[in-house]
Amino acid sequence: MTDLSINLNKIALIRNSREGNYPDVVEFAKVCIDQGADGITVHPRPDQRHIRPEDVRRLAALVQPLTDVEFNVEGNPFAPAIGDYPGFIELVAETMPDQCTLVPDGDDQLTSDHGFDLTSSGEQLRPIIERLHSLGMRVSLFMDPDLAQIELAKEIGADRIELYTGPYAAAWGSDQLEALFQEHLAAAELSTRLGMGVNAGHDLNLHNLAKFASIPNLLEVSIGHAFTVDSLTLGMAKTVQSYKALLG
Ligand code: PXP
Repeated sequence: MTDLSINLNKIALIRNSREGNYPDVVEFAKVCIDQGADGITVHPRPDQRHIRPEDVRRLAALVQPLTDVEFNVEGNPFAPAIGDYPGFIELVAETMPDQCTLVPDGDDQLTSDHGFDLTSSGEQLRPIIERLHSLGMRVSLFMDPDLAQIELAKEIGADRIELYTGPYAAAWGSDQLEALFQEHLAAAELSTRLGMGVNAGHDLNLHNLAKFASIPNLLEVSIGHAFTVDSLTLGMAKTVQSYKALLG
């Protein structure tokens, strides 16, 4: 059984295209939770292109009292304060998610598109992970399926890794798929052997999810883009159920 955490960035993106608070991410989070989503994920970037700090605070107030729903906040741990964005780690410390997923994303990236290179950033991350642990949070690192890097993730104190599944999804239907899948499988097995949990995300959808979810001990997937598009045709409630069915 793999948990489904729904990323609500794209709801905020639609909201930001107009003044006001419609659609409201909190109302959509409630629908997801009512339909059995195991978690809610948001990615508050400094440019506030979708999720804003106030969304994180309001979602934390909704989700934190629910012991069976996980709140996951992901983002660049080095993002500093700018305007009313308090800095990524400060926002996380204020809102206290169950899980903080650290992602090496720059402001100029359209979306997260690679895992950490811990050879260069591991020592900078170590004290950040320690601080999040001292606050009582689980820490996950966004990683490519690179075995040496996964060993380093363990060494600097990560509790989980989130495998970046963009290349796996892009290879869907091509003859590279199987080799890529095997790389992710080996990375997940190593992580589990080292005592780290395994999450996954990026470009997962109703077509490619079941195969990826066959990886043993895959604890959680976070899905946003395809989930939002599927909600346009299926409706959000039905979409949650469709993804849950593939993970059950
Ligand atoms: N994981 C991380 C670290 C991400 O940045 C994103 C996109 O915000 C996802 C998972 C979800 O990817 P998608 O929106 O393609 O489902």
